[in-house]
Amino acid sequence: MSGTPDKKRSATDVVVVGGGVIGMSIGWRAAQAGLAVTIAEAATAGSGATHAAAGMLAPVTEADFGEQDLIALNLAAAERFGPFAEELEAASGRPTGYRRAGTLAVAIDRDQAEALERMHRFRLSLGLEGERLSGRECRRLEPALAPRVLGGVLAPGDHHVDPRAVVYALRSALSAVGAELLEGAPVRELVTGDGRVLGVRLADGRELAADRIVIAGGASAGAIEGLPAEARVPVRPVKGQILRLRATAAGPQPLGRVVRTEDFYAVPREDGTLVVGATMEERGFDTTVTAGAVLDLLRYAYEVVPGIAELELAELGAGLRPTAPDNRPIVGDGALEGLVWATGHWRNGVLLAPLTAAAVAGLLTGQPLPYELEPFSPGRFARSPQPAGSASA
Ligand code: GLY
Repeated sequence: MSGTPDKKRSATDVVVVGGGVIGMSIGWRAAQAGLAVTIAEAATAGSGATHAAAGMLAPVTEADFGEQDLIALNLAAAERFGPFAEELEAASGRPTGYRRAGTLAVAIDRDQAEALERMHRFRLSLGLEGERLSGRECRRLEPALAPRVLGGVLAPGDHHVDPRAVVYALRSALSAVGAELLEGAPVRELVTGDGRVLGVRLADGRELAADRIVIAGGASAGAIEGLPAEARVPVRPVKGQILRLRATAAGPQPLGRVVRTEDFYAVPREDGTLVVGATMEERGFDTTVTAGAVLDLLRYAYEVVPGIAELELAELGAGLRPTAPDNRPIVGDGALEGLVWATGHWRNGVLLAPLTAAAVAGLLTGQPLPYELEPFSPGRFARSPQPAGSASA
């Protein structure tokens, strides 16, 4: 909606809409760059997709055919993650759970072995690192693997982190750098005028004036009110159901690194949790946990790591991956002056958070978008302005 500046409004340089790992990281970097930052989060910081996320940092084992630009972006992001985690831990005094442990992709039947070999050859052709292993070599690395594991590929550079720990750390780091984190503060609409953003109006009627608005909200980011149709970007939710198992006296943590097949992944945490995910479902904003998905995930994981049967079933959940029509991130200046998008990170939100945050903080301080992000500009969804009076959707 259009509006005129209101003297009663509080003012800041930047409002970040959305307090997930992306929004919080952007807020941290922007505040470090000297900007006054307010993050408006509808619920609790990190309670959306970030809360569900397993925290795989997997540019190699997630690399797929036809995604060379995304693979290059993910590789650049993975390189940044170690230094980001180190800096965040120092700034916050809290751990992030970042572990350089690699990822082991395995196969338990001929079909899986052939698919894994095809992906391995494709990834090698791109110069990505991966080492083919026999079943015995896989079990030497991960003794809890079932005898039926035929072989695997070790991706030594695909690490993992604990997204919930990252959120705790970012919370402290934001406070240390003077950024404001408003929780329970849904943004009702953007306030615009004269072809630019002027701020946001919260659901409780408060207004925050700002010259720059970064929309880092999750799957509903594209539907934010107050934007003309031609300034929107299309984002949809892709549901992921995910489980958390916990080590018990009878069943210790079975894995030392991420283990996956084409059907599931299992991410070990040092506190004994084993995160097992995840489904990919097009079901709108539904976050129901279904018996069928739990059954499938447990069965896939049990076939590869039978010892999970002794673990406690600690948590069932579902998250919504913010996803563009081409499954690629949407990062960069929007079609309205002062508007910046940082959404659509799909399966790689945690991995991409440091890179996106640095890029957006750069944009906010007058630097160009880094070249790795050029293919992911919101401009690829540009639409012609709608005639006055036509509906905006
Ligand atoms: N990054 C894994 C997932 O989205 O399930």
